[in-house]
Amino acid sequence: MTSPYGLEGRVAIVTGASRGIGLAVAEALRTAGALVCVTARDPDGVRRAAEELGAVGLAGSVADPAHLRELTGLALREFGRIDIVVNNAATNQPYGPLMDADPNRWREAFTVNVEAPLRLVQHAWRAWMSEHGGSVVNICTEGAAHVGPNVGAYGTSKAALLHLTRQLAGELAPKVRVNSVSPGLVRTEMARFVWESAEEELAAGLPLGRIGEPEDIARAVVWLASDAADWITGADLLVDGGTRVRAAHTATAYAVHERLRSRAPGQGAP
Ligand SMILES: NC(=O)c1ccc[n+]([C@@H]2O[C@H](COP(=O)([O-])OP(=O)(O)OC[C@H]3O[C@@H](n4cnc5c(N)ncnc54)[C@H](OP(=O)(O)O)[C@@H]3O)[C@@H](O)[C@H]2O)c1
Repeated sequence: MTSPYGLEGRVAIVTGASRGIGLAVAEALRTAGALVCVTARDPDGVRRAAEELGAVGLAGSVADPAHLRELTGLALREFGRIDIVVNNAATNQPYGPLMDADPNRWREAFTVNVEAPLRLVQHAWRAWMSEHGGSVVNICTEGAAHVGPNVGAYGTSKAALLHLTRQLAGELAPKVRVNSVSPGLVRTEMARFVWESAEEELAAGLPLGRIGEPEDIARAVVWLASDAADWITGADLLVDGGTRVRAAHTATAYAVHERLRSRAPGQGAP
């Protein structure tokens, strides 16, 4: 009997796959047997990831509608189908109080974090999924459930992505399942400014006693994308080391962001 976790013969597109969670997701999908198409802005990062994984890659920003169209075209040309879309690329900018938020940077957060995932699903739907089915996994964040200092644009856009996930799940059923994974704090470049300055303190506040690794998230994404989850749609899977069940952790994270802000007034997160 073939494993329901197996993805042999399936084709996946993963955005933001040159490092961090996206790279781990692409690697886990390859290990499960899928053919993978990766993207990120930096061409060297895309080339390295594609070589390392035996994937195909295309450099560009998900904020560029033409890039998303080309990406879908590449997957179809190279592999002939698109079964899985993982919307992982995101920005955590603008970082700071919403009253200071620059309208262009606020718009950019929504373009990258909300509009691009919708556009990519539209392309995949029209090109393949409406007829043959498929599975979409959007990467949200545990933090979207909380109000926190400095992360208002990020949190608001990710909360919108969470709702977009449910809305698409309703609209695209039964052909396409659409789910999300919401990570807690994970050891990647995007979150380095948080964990590097306070890892011990943050880990101590977590029920499972450590911050996340990209592979923790990747395993959950592969499971949701696979037939093992074929009666799940519109769900959000928290992969957060227990963050949500311990209020003290939220208070610690809040204090860390307050501290970061007071150290670098007026500055965005790196
Ligand atoms: N790390 C955490 O603690 C954490 C927690 C909750 C949720 N998340 C979510 O997890 C996802 C991955 O984040 P990460 O922590 O792995 O970040 P990361 O290590 O900074 O990696 C981000 C990836 O996305 C690419 N990227 C960024 N902007 C892009 C754009 N406009 N177009 C195409 N690619 C783009 C980056 O490459 P280029 O720079 O070359 O484009 C890189 O490959 C995000 O959705 C994030 O919101 C992360």
